[in-house]
Amino acid sequence: MKQLQTVSGTKAAPPPRAAQTSPLERLSQALKGDLASVNAIILDRMQSDIPLIPQLAGHLIAAGGKRIRPVMTLASAALFGYDGGRQHKLAACVEFIHTATLLHDDVVDESDQRRGKASANALFGNEAAVLVGDFLFSRSFQLMVEDGSLDVLRILSNAAAVIAEGEVLQLSTANNIETTEEQYLDVISAKTAELFAAACEVGAVVAGRDPAECRAMREYGAYLGLAFQISDDVLDYAASEELLGKSLGDDFKEGKMTLPVIKALKNATPEEKAFWERCMGALEQKDGDLAQAVRLFERHNAIGRSLEQARGYAKKGIQLLKDLPQNALRKDLEDLIVFAVERQY
Ligand code: IPE
Ligand code: IPE
Ligand code: MG
Ligand code: MG
Repeated sequence: MKQLQTVSGTKAAPPPRAAQTSPLERLSQALKGDLASVNAIILDRMQSDIPLIPQLAGHLIAAGGKRIRPVMTLASAALFGYDGGRQHKLAACVEFIHTATLLHDDVVDESDQRRGKASANALFGNEAAVLVGDFLFSRSFQLMVEDGSLDVLRILSNAAAVIAEGEVLQLSTANNIETTEEQYLDVISAKTAELFAAACEVGAVVAGRDPAECRAMREYGAYLGLAFQISDDVLDYAASEELLGKSLGDDFKEGKMTLPVIKALKNATPEEKAFWERCMGALEQKDGDLAQAVRLFERHNAIGRSLEQARGYAKKGIQLLKDLPQNALRKDLEDLIVFAVERQY
């Protein structure tokens, strides 16, 4: 599918890429040296004597990705002035968990594009993608154990379990047009926000901060994750495929009950409800249905209201930072959560 129209009155048209620096790019720049160490660990630890493993993992990893979760671990440690080195392995561990979930998620979602390239499942098949995902999960656990802290092990292993729960929970809401906002929030809290929360929390934990500060970083991360996933779900209907690097319309195609759909259904006429039931419930879709879904979003301001909700989470996230050290990194973290909502990619 080619580029969809951006839904009007929602996200502003993107300025040319080179003309702006996003808060994520600013943070990545500020933490350049740390990120280089993390990337070196990622490359080293994705190796195996079984050639298909580095081949498949390398395909996904070489495609880049935004690296937002490892940046959160690095930024959280740096915010508290920690520079002891433990954050590098832990940031790599966080990215391994994320990469493993992407490999599995693309199999489940039957997605054929990821990070601007063919997805691993499209290129290597489902079996290899699932098994290499398992390998990367296992590597992430080795990295946790090497850190040696039981607190860190508890936080990150818990995140890995909760993400899997979120993906399974999502299976049971798919194709059910009665899905509530509360159920949607349960899904995204688990599948996405939990890893953002853990990534932020471990940065504070390795810095030896007190429980209230670790909790504040964790909760900031959770709000960042909610905002990030709502934005992702909006972008699935209203983005530029080229900027996003993955196919648009996957959520519609699968009947995934994301926030814009739930909002559009709230005041739907019986005829609109029948449309959603046919497309999302029964998965009987024909040409023009996706464009019709976008028109229904406009009629109910479903994208605008989804983004408003995400902006509310961004505000709460910023509030959580208020008692933490006030330095340039904190300002970047405040800007980052706003960027997570307004981003185009
Ligand atoms: C994709 O995450 C999965 C979601 C939680 C929406 P990212 O958008 O961070 O993926 P990469 O790592 O940049 O490719
Ligand atoms: C994110 O959900 C997947 C996980 C966090 C495991 P999506 O299915 O929306 O992510 P994309 O759109 O495929 O990147
Ligand atoms: Mg997916
Ligand atoms: Mg998505």
